Amino acid sequence: MQGLSHMQESGSIRVALDEEARGILRGWMQAKQKGVPPEPPATPVQSMQSTEEKLAYLRERAAHWKAARALGTLRETMVFATGNPHARLMLVGEAPGYEEELRQEPFVGKAGQKLNQILGAMGLTREEVYISNVCKFRPSMGANQGTANRAPNEEELSACLPLIMAEIRAIQPACIVCLGGTSAKGLLGTAATVSNLRGQWHECQGIPVRVTYHPSYLLRNESMRAKRAVWEDMLATMEHLQLPITPKQRGYFLPA
Ligand code: URA
Repeated sequence: MQGLSHMQESGSIRVALDEEARGILRGWMQAKQKGVPPEPPATPVQSMQSTEEKLAYLRERAAHWKAARALGTLRETMVFATGNPHARLMLVGEAPGYEEELRQEPFVGKAGQKLNQILGAMGLTREEVYISNVCKFRPSMGANQGTANRAPNEEELSACLPLIMAEIRAIQPACIVCLGGTSAKGLLGTAATVSNLRGQWHECQGIPVRVTYHPSYLLRNESMRAKRAVWEDMLATMEHLQLPITPKQRGYFLPA
C-alpha cells in the first residue's frame, strides 16, 4: 500500500498486475456484484520458510475458500494436489471428478490412469512431479449428479485461481504443463483453443508453460495423431527439463 501511495504521489497512473493479482481482482469484482465479502489474498505464504509449510497453509486455506463456497455451484469436498513439492515439472488439470472427489486426490480416475501412462512413457512417476487442478472442487450438477462431471465455468475458475497461482509461487517448477483448455484459460488468461496454444512455450509468473490436450481427450480419441500430438508436447517438456530421451522414445506414435 505504501508503495502504491508513493507511486501515486510521484504521478504514476498505471500499475502492472501479475496473473494472480488479476485473478484476485476478478474474484473481488464478481463477489462485489453478488454482495459476497471478498476473499483475502493468500499473502502470508511468501513469509513462510519451506515449500511444505507453504503448501500445508494453502491446503488449509483452500478447504475453507469462501469465494468458492459463496458461488453455491461447487461441491463441498476440496481436492488439493499430489506429488513432490520440489518437483521440476508441475501438471495442472481442470477440476476433480467423481473419483477424485471420492479419494480426495487429483487424477485418480480414468484420466488419471492415462496421465500415469504418459508420465511412465516420459520415465517419470506421479511421486516425482506435482499434480494439481485450477479448480479445487468438483463442479456441481445438482441432486442427481451421480458420477457425471462437468468443466468449471468462468466464475468457478476465477474463484479458485488465487490458489493455483499461490501453489505455482510456492513450488517454482522449472516448467508447467496445462492439461486441457480450462487449465490454459486459468493460467494464461486466454480462451484460445488447445490446438492453437500447443507447440510453443507460454509463460505464467515467468515460468515456461506448455499446453497440451487433456488426458480425457485421449480416452475419447485414440488416434495415433492425437497421441503423437500430446507426445510431442511431452518431448518438448522433457527437452526443457533436460531429461534423457532415447531414440525409441522420440519415435513413439509415429506412423510405421
Ligand atoms: N480431470 C482433471 O482435470 N483433473 C482431475 O483431477 C481429474 C480429471
